Amino acid sequence: MQKKTEKFYVTTPIYYPNSKPHLGTLYTTLLADIVARWNKLKNKNTFFLTGLDEHGQKMEEAANHAGKTFQEFADLMVPNFENVWKKFDLNYDKFIRTSSEEHKAGVKKLFEILLEKGDIYKSEYQGFYCTPCETFITQTDLLGDQLCPSCSTKVKTVSEESYFFKLSKYQDKLLNFYKNNPDFISPNSRMNEVISFVESGLKDLCVSRKSVKWGISMPKDPEHTIYVWGDALTNYISAIGFGSDQEKMQTFWPADLHIIGKDIVRFHAVFWPAFLMAADIELPKKLLVHGFILMGDSKMSKSKGNVISPLELASDYGVDQVRYYLARHIPVTQDGTFDFEELSNTINSDLANSLGNLLSRTLTLAKKNGIENLDSVLVKDQSCVQVENLWSEVFALFSNHMDKYEFHLALASLWKFIFKLNSFFQEKKPWVLAKNNADEFSQVIFVIAKSLCKIAHLLYPVMPEKALQILKSIGVNQIANLDSMNFSKFDFSSFDGSALFVRIENSKSEKDQVVDTKNKNSKDEKLKEEFLNFKDWLKVKIAVGQILSCDKVEKSEKLYKLEVDFGALGKRQVVSGIAKFRTSEQIVNLKCAFLINLEPRKIMGLESQAMILAAGSGSDKFSLTTFDNTDVQPGDILG
Ligand code: MSP
Repeated sequence: MQKKTEKFYVTTPIYYPNSKPHLGTLYTTLLADIVARWNKLKNKNTFFLTGLDEHGQKMEEAANHAGKTFQEFADLMVPNFENVWKKFDLNYDKFIRTSSEEHKAGVKKLFEILLEKGDIYKSEYQGFYCTPCETFITQTDLLGDQLCPSCSTKVKTVSEESYFFKLSKYQDKLLNFYKNNPDFISPNSRMNEVISFVESGLKDLCVSRKSVKWGISMPKDPEHTIYVWGDALTNYISAIGFGSDQEKMQTFWPADLHIIGKDIVRFHAVFWPAFLMAADIELPKKLLVHGFILMGDSKMSKSKGNVISPLELASDYGVDQVRYYLARHIPVTQDGTFDFEELSNTINSDLANSLGNLLSRTLTLAKKNGIENLDSVLVKDQSCVQVENLWSEVFALFSNHMDKYEFHLALASLWKFIFKLNSFFQEKKPWVLAKNNADEFSQVIFVIAKSLCKIAHLLYPVMPEKALQILKSIGVNQIANLDSMNFSKFDFSSFDGSALFVRIENSKSEKDQVVDTKNKNSKDEKLKEEFLNFKDWLKVKIAVGQILSCDKVEKSEKLYKLEVDFGALGKRQVVSGIAKFRTSEQIVNLKCAFLINLEPRKIMGLESQAMILAAGSGSDKFSLTTFDNTDVQPGDILG
């Protein structure tokens, strides 16, 4: 084993475990896994960190809704993440939880330093707060009727004593840093956004919440809880020993790469470097900002109710197939729409037809013609030599794209080589050579086996399980470092002819198929016209809301004005024509179903921001869609 010379430290954001991970959150972690595996292949001493952001108001509210203590709720949610990450082979070196003692020690230490330095002072916060984003928002940033500019949820008004960090003091230092480190943020366009934000003038940052109890208390002032982002960002150093193991901290810090989504750039590109500057800690080397996974036109997110479960995808399509699809089809720095049909087509064409088929037809032909082992075959046939010579170019191109986090281009370049190998197989007609030119036959098989061996190495970061399966079927039992891939012995005896990838016969999602069956069988043309396709259905958002208050609308017989709690989605006003059917006392506290993305409309001068779902209104019979199960919480999405 060669000595590892360089280190590489890569991180993901730590996730809020108020809900289960979905394909969007899986995506961030997958990118980090690909980067970590790639650097391990390059023999770097790699450390890959992920974890959970357990504190803050959002988690407090989720725990209250679930009827659990904060810690119980966080503990309960952890396996949801660990199981999905494990299923998808996300091979992190450490899983940090912000409720752990080592993390708390790191946060306390950082805030002690900032306090001692005089960069934190006590004052009063007057403004707004968005709980889903855990962000302080100023009046000028608000959208429309007090909505968060990032997630459009109604913000809360906050007025409380708070500690502030002197962010404004770091404005020039930050601008200088960006100037001297133009590659700090990838892509470059994000860097420009950050620079113009900082240039527009930095205000001091509120870093404590008195009204939030679930978190880490401010040193020497336990009435104040450290703001969840101040707490969370520190994970990148607490996880590697800041506050507990200085030697480990020195091994891995500064981080080589923080991978983050485009919604959390400001926290990582402005606040985090400023905290580190204030504490005289070196800054991370790079931020890689990725786009969103979209469903239709909107971001996949729990609050929008359009999430895809990674576990269901894994069982329907296969783990490595999904990993490949995400890496191949979505350029990291752009948004990408998830599409079931595209996923199936990719599996069938790139994976089953091109790669899988090349492996199986080569090995099947070799075994059928008595070749089970090959050892250092002398390659002299011109076209075989030409294929061998292509490798250095393929490798250089692939590596270059991988080092720039252009996974889609790296894979595209590798697939060009796989297509080339398939044409080579067709042109050489090895099934004919097997009968009349045994020497050339073994050269062709050798060249393809050797190429597959190298391809499997390059594919390992994206498809670890399939890469190992390819290697096993050619008798290579261990993955090598990229600089020592000198394989010349192959053994096909364990290859049993089974396909590397199973073709997906029906190229639509199960949910789409349900709609299709209905379409086929229905004789009612009128109803057929009203069918929604699956994409339309994803646009419909029905959520559980708890009615907090109910007042008669003046001068109306049938209208109530309701205040309805949608949990993490905020509170809304709903005007509803149900006053003839229920008294106010009968409906206050009920949890009912509401359509929450109907365009808001004015009824008797009052804005209605959702529609209650009921049956039978208009007649004497009437029933609301209610939920009496305690597991159902305001804000839960139906579907
Ligand atoms: N807890 C903070 C991060 C603190 S890091 C010190 C947070 N958590 S989050 O769970 O809301 O989001 C974590 C990451 O998941 C973000 O980078 C976010 O961009 C990413 N994604 C959430 N939904 C996503 C998609 N639909 N697509 C791609 N990434 C998405 O923010």
